[in-house]
Amino acid sequence: MKRIGILTGGGDAPGLNTVIRAVVLTAHNRYGWDVIGIQEGFDGLLAGLPIVEFDAHKTRDLLSRGGTVLGAANRGSPFHRPITHADGTTEYIDVSHEALERMAALHLDALIVAGGDGTISIAHRLVGLGGKIVGVPKTIDNDLAETDITFGFDTALQTATEALDRLQTTAESHHRVMVLEVMGRNAGWIALTAGVAGGADAILIPEIPFDINVVCAKINAIRSAGRRRYSLVVVAEGARMVDGEQTYAIKDTAETYKRLGGVGYNVGNMLKDCVEAEVRVTVLGHVQRGGSPTPRDRWLATQFGTTAVELVSQEQWGTMVALQGERTIPVPMADAIKMKFVDPQGELVQRARSLGIVFG
Ligand code: F6P
Repeated sequence: MKRIGILTGGGDAPGLNTVIRAVVLTAHNRYGWDVIGIQEGFDGLLAGLPIVEFDAHKTRDLLSRGGTVLGAANRGSPFHRPITHADGTTEYIDVSHEALERMAALHLDALIVAGGDGTISIAHRLVGLGGKIVGVPKTIDNDLAETDITFGFDTALQTATEALDRLQTTAESHHRVMVLEVMGRNAGWIALTAGVAGGADAILIPEIPFDINVVCAKINAIRSAGRRRYSLVVVAEGARMVDGEQTYAIKDTAETYKRLGGVGYNVGNMLKDCVEAEVRVTVLGHVQRGGSPTPRDRWLATQFGTTAVELVSQEQWGTMVALQGERTIPVPMADAIKMKFVDPQGELVQRARSLGIVFG
């Protein structure tokens, strides 16, 4: 009998609970193993938060439930833990050995970690110190290398596309230009795919710095040709102008914490000055992270969860589950954290350009 732990790290994504369910069911049914949940990611492991015992007979509600029942921490690393001294100064110390000690104290034979690049990077370093860990790729941003797709992305894509469909009808009624800012960090996957699926006229992504004049020209050309009097513009939160900077919603003075957001308003303000139409801006934000996973995300998360348990049985420490084509395979964590971006010259962008979509 093995006892394996599971934790969910980084920002949540629809499908995390589905992974937990698949891990619990596979461990129980196929191997006869116990699974315990670690709350609040690596922070919770270090803090010694109470563990969650999963009952393999009561996992049904995890299948379709958004978020993560284990909680997740979006900041903090055992390799870089802040300690604030009495004089107000902050020092960062490495407490990674405590994470491994805690895993041993919990009698864990293995740990399954569902997370994005930050969480998988921490897991990778812990494996280097002897941690018996396998990873599962999670992020709505779809920016992890080595896997065709991460779970959570399809749900975010559906939400963003639905938002565009809704904006289209009101844009048409008022002959307006609607700007939709979507998430994705430094990758334009959500913006590109939702933009194509939702009929955008312009898509601005981090991988292609934009010139606002190109967007203005496109919108004005549509209007002057008499084809229609509304336009849709999708802006990825990480987009920036040629020679410009990314826009942050929050940034501390030392720039140790920065959160992207607000570029949609910048784009809206610039468009207001160059198009003969009213402009409105919508920032979709965390709506993209919430809610029930789509059937595709449920299926993917289930496939990832079952495969992760198989990798534990094979003692493939330091690997992450990946989808390549039809196959779910192990890839080295070190390769997955290299990140995956939209290729500006790639087929997806070229296909979008064929439709007349501009990238600025
Ligand atoms: O990585 C997922 C993501 O939703 C990004 O798209 C976004 O930039 C970030 O997390 C937001 O993080 P937070 O939940 O900390 O605001």
